[in-house]
Amino acid sequence: MRGLRISEFGRPPALADDLPVPEAGEGTTLVRVAAAALGHLDRSVASGTFPHHPPLPYVPCGDGAGRVEDSDRFPRGALVWLRGGGLGIARDGVAAEYAAVPDEAVHLAPEGADPILASCFFSPATSAWISVHDLAGVKEGQRVLVTGAAGAVGSLAVQIAVQAGADVTASVSRKERAQLVPAGVRTLVGEAGGGPYDALIDTVGGPGLPARLDAVEPGGVAVIVGYTAGARVELDLPSRCAHDVDLRFLNMIRRAPQAFALADGLLSRLSAGELTLRTDRYALAAAPVAWEALAAGRAEGRVVLEVADDR
Ligand SMILES: NC(=O)c1ccc[n+]([C@@H]2O[C@H](COP(=O)([O-])OP(=O)(O)OC[C@H]3O[C@@H](n4cnc5c(N)ncnc54)[C@H](OP(=O)(O)O)[C@@H]3O)[C@@H](O)[C@H]2O)c1
Repeated sequence: MRGLRISEFGRPPALADDLPVPEAGEGTTLVRVAAAALGHLDRSVASGTFPHHPPLPYVPCGDGAGRVEDSDRFPRGALVWLRGGGLGIARDGVAAEYAAVPDEAVHLAPEGADPILASCFFSPATSAWISVHDLAGVKEGQRVLVTGAAGAVGSLAVQIAVQAGADVTASVSRKERAQLVPAGVRTLVGEAGGGPYDALIDTVGGPGLPARLDAVEPGGVAVIVGYTAGARVELDLPSRCAHDVDLRFLNMIRRAPQAFALADGLLSRLSAGELTLRTDRYALAAAPVAWEALAAGRAEGRVVLEVADDR
């Protein structure tokens, strides 16, 4: 069968057409893959520097979606999304025509779900929802700043906060990214924080974070989601104590049970167009190009490899 193969750490995957078709077994479902999502974690695993990786050679990509081909647990032909069970991290991933997936990593998609969205929605949608509702506790009328608002988590956090009735300001790093922010939302370009805000949802971190914390009113909340702009920040603790903004951190590994409970509802809303997640789609054969675009920060949405036509 056709699929991607990582044969050497630190190199992009190559397309292979001689991969053995895996088999279903007890506790394992065989899935005909429609789409595989390519994310930063997949690149980290393939770098060989991540703490875990499957033995070489392996099939990359830990998220995907497809139709059940053979299973003693799921109905044949059902649309399922795939995540968990060590896929693409401790065992072969799903960037191939067929994947043998531990049943725990097979999730029935809700009625009417879109296969492309099903392959890539889980992390950004659940992270954004939990950041806005559980960590920031956003309420109607509150002023909310979302950074990295053109990214997957950021753009969904903007939409979810708007739907909660918040007055949302979006922040992007570069002018050309402003067009990727959901329409109608006030957008700031660069480090300027504006404000004041009741809540900050920060997906970029970096040296600009203290100034953004200053833009939150005392008693407000700042949710730290990611650090694409830098992982280290210097905080002046006396002024932070005096300012009294509640710093909260998102840990989606610890919150996985909650995320899985939210997934169906979020995928339904995305598939119905009530929420939007931009995708950059590539044919499987173009995976090295997609890999490079993701590495260079050129992706304008979740990168998805179309493995089979499921429309
Ligand atoms: N804590 C958790 O459990 C958790 C869960 C999910 C995701 N995350 C993290 O959240 C972050 C966002 O995830 P994502 O899926 O939304 O990623 P993404 O779609 O790749 O978006 C990343 C965003 O980071 C911004 N960015 C990149 N480089 C930057 C720089 N040098 N300066 C300023 N901004 C920069 C970009 O902002 P512009 O568009 O403005 O350029 C982009 O929108 C990632 O770091 C991810 O690892 C954490």
